[in-house]
Amino acid sequence: MCGIVGYIGKLGDGGRAQDVIMGGLARLEYRGYDSAGIAVAGSDPERVATAKRAGKLAVLADALADNPIADGPAGIGHTRWATHGPPTDANAHPHLAAGGRIAIIHNGIIENHNALRNELAGQGIDFLSDTDTEVAGHLLGSLVESGLSLPDAMRAATKRLEGAFTLLAVDAHDPHTVVGARRNSPLVVGLGEGENFLGSDVVAFIEHTRTALELGQDEVVVMTADTVTVTDVNGEIVERESYHVDWDSAAAEKGGFDTFMDKEIHDQPAAVADTLRGRLDEQGRLKLDEGIVDDYILKSVDKIIIIACGTAAYAGQVARYAIEHWTRVPVEVELAHEFRYRDPIVSVKTLVVAVSQSGETMDTIMAVRHAQQQGATVIGIVNAQGSTIAREADAVLYTRAGPEIAVASTKAFLAQITAGYLLGIYLAELRGNKFPDEIDALLRELDAIPAKIQHVLDTADPIRDVARSMADERTVLFLGRHVGFPVAMEGALKLKELAYIHAEGFAAGELKHGPIALVEQDQPVFVVVPSPRGRESLHAKVLSNVQEVRARGARTLVIAEEGDTEAADHAAHVFYVPSAPVLMTPLLSVIPLQIFALELAAAKGYDVDQPRNLAKSVTVE
Ligand code: F6R
Repeated sequence: MCGIVGYIGKLGDGGRAQDVIMGGLARLEYRGYDSAGIAVAGSDPERVATAKRAGKLAVLADALADNPIADGPAGIGHTRWATHGPPTDANAHPHLAAGGRIAIIHNGIIENHNALRNELAGQGIDFLSDTDTEVAGHLLGSLVESGLSLPDAMRAATKRLEGAFTLLAVDAHDPHTVVGARRNSPLVVGLGEGENFLGSDVVAFIEHTRTALELGQDEVVVMTADTVTVTDVNGEIVERESYHVDWDSAAAEKGGFDTFMDKEIHDQPAAVADTLRGRLDEQGRLKLDEGIVDDYILKSVDKIIIIACGTAAYAGQVARYAIEHWTRVPVEVELAHEFRYRDPIVSVKTLVVAVSQSGETMDTIMAVRHAQQQGATVIGIVNAQGSTIAREADAVLYTRAGPEIAVASTKAFLAQITAGYLLGIYLAELRGNKFPDEIDALLRELDAIPAKIQHVLDTADPIRDVARSMADERTVLFLGRHVGFPVAMEGALKLKELAYIHAEGFAAGELKHGPIALVEQDQPVFVVVPSPRGRESLHAKVLSNVQEVRARGARTLVIAEEGDTEAADHAAHVFYVPSAPVLMTPLLSVIPLQIFALELAAAKGYDVDQPRNLAKSVTVE
């Protein structure tokens, strides 16, 4: 939610803050796209130059082309996902304070903004927006006007603010400095040569530098062109190690595709292969990426709880079938935002697996903390290196999907399932549930998946054609059983998010308990049919479900294994995926559903990378 960028370079010939910041915002726009704005210090010693507009970044770019603002060495920029106040020009960030001397941007929610607003209004301050950000800005402004430097004022303000926030600010009186602070909201520093950067995540600056540094909780960063100083809120220096960012800047480009989502769907063979790559140590045992969880803890685990939200939770649901089957340890999957409030039974013998692409989903972060307070061990399955969940979990298994820019998750889903399977295999081996040759067989099955995904992508024209013909549908149902159930729910979620069509995913077995009442003449129903080579009864039962909806007029769109002619007999359309062991099939059967949603949304003329009302990472609860 909200993308923020900061830049500091040398004064030189006037500075290049605007270019760097607009470039960074373009890469971060997936985080929020209700409005955008930029502030640059350096041209006027009394006032920071700003421009901001409701709407997407392109609206701001046009406004800047028509009415340029002076460039400078220091700047901050923001792309917004509205929380307080609608997306208007006035509510867009940056907000000015101290008579225009200070500009501030913010990601997160300031919980005590009402009390602070009253206090500041009592001092005669007028507010121009509905935002909590402006309150933080005026708090900072009043501290600066009382004589504090911007870094000291930021530390003092941070102590008074409650909630979750990343704040960046510049001061017209000191255009050689950019200051940032964070609590429960992401902020990464990019270390350059004679220039430094700040971003909500590393894609904000990877075209300029791949050396990064994370900020911890309640830390303040003060950047000049040549120095980066991190302190706590009391001004005590904090030493932070820099790290190399594995992603390259090309990974955050469209690479010849029309949309990021299409590109990311095509990245999936690599996302799975990279997540599998180099995981085994010399003894052939799985390695975690960071942190250590002692084997004796993992051996004594008596329950696993997977916590996540949205697509990541569906990946967790898929992984549950495999982990439980391979380890014989009970696995629960819980939405992170429900977990904490349910008073879950968690002990030192509970392994909590937090699945998150961004590593910044606030609901999941809070659930991780809750689990740790109860004594659980937490392993993160995370895509974004150095993110909050990656840092706070006891150990991390990174999904190596590369940057996922499209708001709707695709390649991260496959990589999360793959990582979940690796964890299951690791536990099964460690706990002696599987013999080494069985472990080898499972790893070989996983190794074969990227080529099969490629085959699905290469033969996807029929699903694209059908999707384009269905742009006028109002409701689409999705059915699946066993591992096909979360796949059905993920297919429905993709369609809702992208095409704004009412879609529901059901357990096929649940059909007769109610949902079948929804079926009427020509109702499209997708059915994920399990392999006929799996449990025979499962295949037969799902085919019965196909017949049941068909008998009531449904138009059945069936995802089936190549060669399953019986499934084709009951389908208006059948889309084949290569044969694979039952537990591996979600990695294939979800792909036609992703492509269906993408193509249908594109046929309706919607922006598939930035669907309405959404933001890529949900950093508020
Ligand atoms: C759907 C989607 C979301 C995310 C969810 C969790 O396409 O992208 O449902 O999966 O918001 O996000 P992360 O994985 O970043 O925790």
